Amino acid sequence: MSILVTGGAGFIGSHTVVELLEENEDIIIVDNFINSKPEVLNKIRKITEKDFKFYEVDLLNKEKLEEVFIENKIEAVIHFAGLKAVGESVEKPVEYYHNNITGTLVLLELMKKYNCKKIIFSSSATVYGMPKEVPIKEDFPLSTTNPYGSTKLMIEQILRDVCIADKEFCAILLRYFNPIGAHKSGLIGESPRGIPNNLMPYINQVAIGKLEFLNVYGNDYPTVDGTGVRDYIHVVDLAKGHVKALEKARKFNGAEVYNLGTGTGYSVLQMVKAFEKANNIKIKYKIAPRRPGDIAECYADPTKAFKELGWKAEKTLEEMCKDSWNYTKNEAMN
Ligand code: UFG
Repeated sequence: MSILVTGGAGFIGSHTVVELLEENEDIIIVDNFINSKPEVLNKIRKITEKDFKFYEVDLLNKEKLEEVFIENKIEAVIHFAGLKAVGESVEKPVEYYHNNITGTLVLLELMKKYNCKKIIFSSSATVYGMPKEVPIKEDFPLSTTNPYGSTKLMIEQILRDVCIADKEFCAILLRYFNPIGAHKSGLIGESPRGIPNNLMPYINQVAIGKLEFLNVYGNDYPTVDGTGVRDYIHVVDLAKGHVKALEKARKFNGAEVYNLGTGTGYSVLQMVKAFEKANNIKIKYKIAPRRPGDIAECYADPTKAFKELGWKAEKTLEEMCKDSWNYTKNEAMN
């Protein structure tokens, strides 16, 4: 029996595939490379010295996706595939809803047809909207501020409904906080298209000299130094959370949700300093106006994942900064 990983060539997907292969799981990746590169597949093989099946498929193409289900016996799906840029989702809502929601529905139709009853879904802390307090617990009220976030919340709801309709179905909803870092090999990591939206990739582009300075979006938030606070988590820790979630899915029916974060928040300026110190590079920055839609503080209470999955983040901020930069340098040389 195999584990199907949708979006397995992407940033979080590729790191998760590495961890799964290291646990000797049988893996099938589907990806349409809309936001990833084919080279990633061989890099995963190089890191793990293990192989997997790959299908270049868009989830919206039901016929092609069905071939994957016909040719393989799939035990569980880990579903990463989806568009993920907040700003772009505001400009292209229909594309985001169509791709993320319809893609998931097509997947669920095929899972039903081929009797696959386990899914682990890549959700996001974005479903907490403007949280009333921190740390954020799983039972906090849910709301969204942009179409990307709405797709995550809607898919969570769809999966809960599927679990109500089919008592044998299992959906584990993983709400990620801010994944950064890269595999220690420097072979896989985050490669955003164009100018990065997220903090860590932006800092890396400044470090490598592609961008001149970082815009720090707001220094008048009610936080430690006025800049936004987030829960940055090493992508390898996050990937390991999926291995634990799969273990849980194997012995559980119903829907369950977990925060995957470290439980510690760092401000933008603390991140800049941590990167400078870890890598001995100066990062030029300027204070800019607040970015619309941003919140002051967002960090997880990760105790539920620890209690029920036996998972907790282990890597330090220094490792996150070093591994990110190691990947960026490697990528620039190749
Ligand atoms: N920031 C800057 N300058 C930049 C980029 C970001 O100052 O160039 C600041 C932001 O204002 C924020 C912090 O850095 O305070 C983190 O911003 P990111 O864009 O890296 O991350 P967000 O927390 O805004 O968003 C991330 C993901 C979303 C997800 C959300 C869930 O990008 O997909 O976490 O909490 F929905």
